Amino acid sequence: MSNDTIAIACDHGAFALKEHLKAFVEGKGLTVLDLGVNSTDSVDYPDFGYAMAAALKDGKASRGILLCGSGIGISIAANRHAHVRAALVHDVTCARLSREHNDANVLVFGGRMIGPDLAEECVDTFLTTDFEGGRHQRRVDKLSNPT
Ligand code: RB5
Repeated sequence: MSNDTIAIACDHGAFALKEHLKAFVEGKGLTVLDLGVNSTDSVDYPDFGYAMAAALKDGKASRGILLCGSGIGISIAANRHAHVRAALVHDVTCARLSREHNDANVLVFGGRMIGPDLAEECVDTFLTTDFEGGRHQRRVDKLSNPT
């Protein structure tokens, strides 16, 4: 990764898991850019998906982790930006494939859907798996240029 900073953001539905994963990533010696939230007060997940998109576009982080209750809403929000490839995952295989095939730059969890231990394994895999390129590059390029 060109920039060792990992951005992280969530809505109120995943605050506890966001805090857990923030500490986990910091424990690996990486810098975490915390875009909120910082409590369980109700917020709107698009604001945080868009904040992640802006942080990546501005080069403030190379990759990100997003969370909301299901993971769905914040995935939709982030993926409205062409430079974001946000992958909602529930297992390690999909975390690996999100990197190998999709060059995902954002990993997404549902805070009400996954436990902290499995989420840690997914984060580890996401951070250490390279994009395979080749035939996948052509497909990823098309994602940046929707017709
Ligand atoms: C908030 O209650 C919940 O709707 C949100 O976290 C997320 O699951 C939306 O997709």
